Amino acid sequence: MGLINQKFNSILPTEIVFGKGIVASDLANKLLDLNVQKVLIVSDSGLKNLGIIDGIADSLRVGGVEPFIFAEVEPNPTMEAVHQGRKVYFQHNCTGIVAIGGGSSLDAAKAIAVASVNEGDVNQYGRGKKTIKGPLPPTIMIPTTAGTGSEVTNVAVITDTRQKRKFVLASTYLIPTCAFVDPVMTYSLPPKLIAATGMDALVHSIESYVNNRAQPISDALALEAIKMLRKYLPKSYADPTNEEAKAQVLLASTIAGLSFSMSGTALVHSLSHPMTAWFEVPHGLANAIILPYVMEFNLIANYEKYAEVAYLFEEETRNLSVYKAAEKLVDHLKNFARKLDIPENFNYLSEVIDEEVIEGLTRDAMDDRGTFPNNPRKPSKEEVRALYQQLLPQYKATMAINY
Ligand SMILES: [Fe+2]
Repeated sequence: MGLINQKFNSILPTEIVFGKGIVASDLANKLLDLNVQKVLIVSDSGLKNLGIIDGIADSLRVGGVEPFIFAEVEPNPTMEAVHQGRKVYFQHNCTGIVAIGGGSSLDAAKAIAVASVNEGDVNQYGRGKKTIKGPLPPTIMIPTTAGTGSEVTNVAVITDTRQKRKFVLASTYLIPTCAFVDPVMTYSLPPKLIAATGMDALVHSIESYVNNRAQPISDALALEAIKMLRKYLPKSYADPTNEEAKAQVLLASTIAGLSFSMSGTALVHSLSHPMTAWFEVPHGLANAIILPYVMEFNLIANYEKYAEVAYLFEEETRNLSVYKAAEKLVDHLKNFARKLDIPENFNYLSEVIDEEVIEGLTRDAMDDRGTFPNNPRKPSKEEVRALYQQLLPQYKATMAINY
């Protein structure tokens, strides 16, 4: 549509502190700068058992900050955990929150910050319901996986176990005060998680770059993140002790987060959210499997932009026409994912899939209001269903026999 007709806001309020070992050396001082003497640490039992949380708590005590640990966040954090965290926060008169972990801990910490200022059950403040009041207490986010970008975004996804559904807290108040991007924090990440969460970051940058709300500032960030991930994600997977690769992938994930916090994600996420909600497929893995299928479907909506991504993936595609380069990208991405041992489809789930499930997944994907409208191509219900059928080819084969 041309820049002259675009109107957008670019807000990058999170202070990003990057560096190897900065959590150990600088976190206490940063908290004191923010006037936080008593801090709630939000994390999960895995990191607690590894001794990582206690180590950070010790360094805070030495630096003059009193830490209180709430390490009970589980994958897909629940509203009960958020309320529990709020209790601990008030019990000890905390005035700030540090989150250490993957997307779940970071999201839970944002939700605890919301719950510390907004009364009652936190699900009342889900998107489209009561407005979130602010300001919230200062938050410092320390990602230990390189993928979600949650350390710089304005949203948190929480599960309401009573209603068996997720709700999204979204407000500029949720944007973290500070992100401590320290490669050392990702050193214990196993290769499978490096691959899945790194692919999530790649999906964030590609979906941010091609979607309807893309704009030049988010584009610039997305392209740089793609470049970094293209080069360093395979290296990080091949050798988890490669510190340079780890640093590049982690920062790329934060940059991708900045990009999609401005422009959003799209159809890959619309299709992956129901796979996680219905079958607990890890978010990054679901996105990684879905990406080439959605890309192939989306190509005709914006050959030029997909070609730009193709050039970053394979220099030789510059010699091809825009259309051919864009089409090549689908193969490049399939290869890229294969090298990271990402499965090609969801066939391992085919036994639990039937017509009714496909119908439900299709409905939920189309109802994913934060992502579905952003997609550059507008899919019909039949097209969404067809995408799920491609992702589950064994299921499709059974159907064919039945017919
Ligand atoms: Fe994601």
